[in-house]
Amino acid sequence: MITVIQATDQELPIIRDIAYQTWPTTFGEILSPAQIRYMLDMMYSLDSLKRQISEQKHVFLLAQETDSKAYLGYVSYEFDYKSQSKTKIHKIYLLPASQGKGVGRLLIDKVAELAAEHRNSTVSLNVNRYNKAIQFYERMGFNVIDNETIDIGDGFLMEDFVMEKPLNVT
Ligand SMILES: CC(C)(COP(=O)(O)OP(=O)(O)OC[C@H]1O[C@@H](n2cnc3c(N)ncnc32)[C@H](O)[C@@H]1OP(=O)(O)O)[C@@H](O)C(=O)NCCC(=O)NCCS
Repeated sequence: MITVIQATDQELPIIRDIAYQTWPTTFGEILSPAQIRYMLDMMYSLDSLKRQISEQKHVFLLAQETDSKAYLGYVSYEFDYKSQSKTKIHKIYLLPASQGKGVGRLLIDKVAELAAEHRNSTVSLNVNRYNKAIQFYERMGFNVIDNETIDIGDGFLMEDFVMEKPLNVT
């Protein structure tokens, strides 16, 4: 069984540790080691994670194995992204050993349920154009709606697809 909890500042080191264990296998063949280091530092320092929660209104959910209490991965999302009726998934990462077991589906379903309760009509996310997670998102009902190249500084680019999943909100 998997329990989903909302992370507080206390769990931020757990989120950072999962990211550091997951990014090298996720992006090792897509991004340079220097870019991976740069992005992890920018997005996962404890100060940055704190700001995402307190200033940017990101919510982090952690998937935890109910019996062992082991943390398997996290998702972060933001309601009303850019004042639109959209919930943006900013991050979703599972430890390599916890991938392919239905936990990603559970987290996407949870965010979609919360987004619909919040009366947002769409769930949106960015994914690297070479990440095999694209097929996972398609399976979850997302479609590619746009391309985006984002300059993140230090000469690094994020070359993404924007994917969206419509929700049944009346
Ligand atoms: C992407 C990720 C969140 C998916 O979660 P997961 O728990 O591994 O996926 P699930 O086991 O819930 O898969 C759900 C469905 O998607 C399918 N799926 C998952 N990955 C797939 C892939 N690469 N290609 C095709 N289908 C895939 C599964 O077969 C399953 O289909 P089914 O329900 O019909 O059996 C997870 O693998 C992960 O953390 N990957 C590394 C980090 C990453 O890339 N994050 C995304 C950054 S944008």
